[in-house]
Amino acid sequence: MNFEALVNTAHEMVADGKGLLAIDESAGTCDKRFAQWGIPQNAETRRQYRELIANTPGLGESISGVILFDETIRQRKDDGTPFAKAFTDLGILPGIKVDKGAKPMAAFPGEKITEGLDGLRERLAEYARMGARFAKWRAVLCISDGLPTQGCIEANAHALARYAALCQEAGLVPVVEPEVLMEGAHTLETCGEVTERVLRTVFRELYSQRVRLEGMILKPNMVLPGASCPTQQTVDEVADATVECLLRAVPAAVPGVAFLSGGQSGEIASARLNAMNVRFKARLPWAVGFSYGRAIQEPALQIWHGDPRNKVAAQQALYHRATCDRAARLGEYDATIEGGHRPSALAEVPWLVHAGAA
Ligand code: 13P
Repeated sequence: MNFEALVNTAHEMVADGKGLLAIDESAGTCDKRFAQWGIPQNAETRRQYRELIANTPGLGESISGVILFDETIRQRKDDGTPFAKAFTDLGILPGIKVDKGAKPMAAFPGEKITEGLDGLRERLAEYARMGARFAKWRAVLCISDGLPTQGCIEANAHALARYAALCQEAGLVPVVEPEVLMEGAHTLETCGEVTERVLRTVFRELYSQRVRLEGMILKPNMVLPGASCPTQQTVDEVADATVECLLRAVPAAVPGVAFLSGGQSGEIASARLNAMNVRFKARLPWAVGFSYGRAIQEPALQIWHGDPRNKVAAQQALYHRATCDRAARLGEYDATIEGGHRPSALAEVPWLVHAGAA
């Protein structure tokens, strides 16, 4: 392992206020999102959509790295350039999702364990040869009566640590993603308690598996009230609960924390990230940034609709969200910059006009 190179890559992933863009939806998840908008669901439309993203002018101003799915890293742009090379040429680091998904955990009803450790060393070596510089593994924990159990938290934390050690051995920066889901009626306080317990367990396992914290990125959830909790805290309250939880549980040696969006809208994900950077500016030992999937992509996907005529408008929407998140990362986001990008301003997009959705 070249430790210095690993640390440099981890720093590059969070440098200059930039963040990560997750476009690593599995074929099944991508198809589900396409189906919502009536977009044909096949490998070619998935490739076209990823090409639209790769060709977005100016994307590298705000995005330091993209997370790809196995299918995408093996695909090429129309001009024959493999995606990993296309992003590298833009100054954007290519990354790869390497877990094989969260599966029902034996003997733990309602809970999931992420699979994918078997053969991982060989897969990582292949991805590194294809140009990947970092990797991602997501564990999911849900909150409901008596859940998550300590058994489920520990099994997932152990798998995350084993994955992270293998990544570092292969020269790839591990993005360690333990996601406490926001589905449910639980309170913000409960999410905070669970998130802290999960993060403490994850860092204990990372330590016991000899993962070098300086060469990894943490991708956590924000501390949020459950989506159906009647009490929904303000942006500032969420920012405070989230950063206070992380300050207690995340060692200062970690170079960056890059939040997942987890179903938050693009605007609220930007506003909350901004509030963290404004309110805790001088007290943050790590970069506090983003690794959003839906919160950056959703408006663009909606506009694109699988129709080449909407490509430019979709790219503008993607660029806009990425720019907002870079501003938030720098504590310079202001909701007024959303003005021209709200759905009502998209009346020129043909399908929105036809669907009467503007
Ligand atoms: P979301 O931001 O849509 O939650 O996706 C991020 C991600 O990579 C989940 O693993």
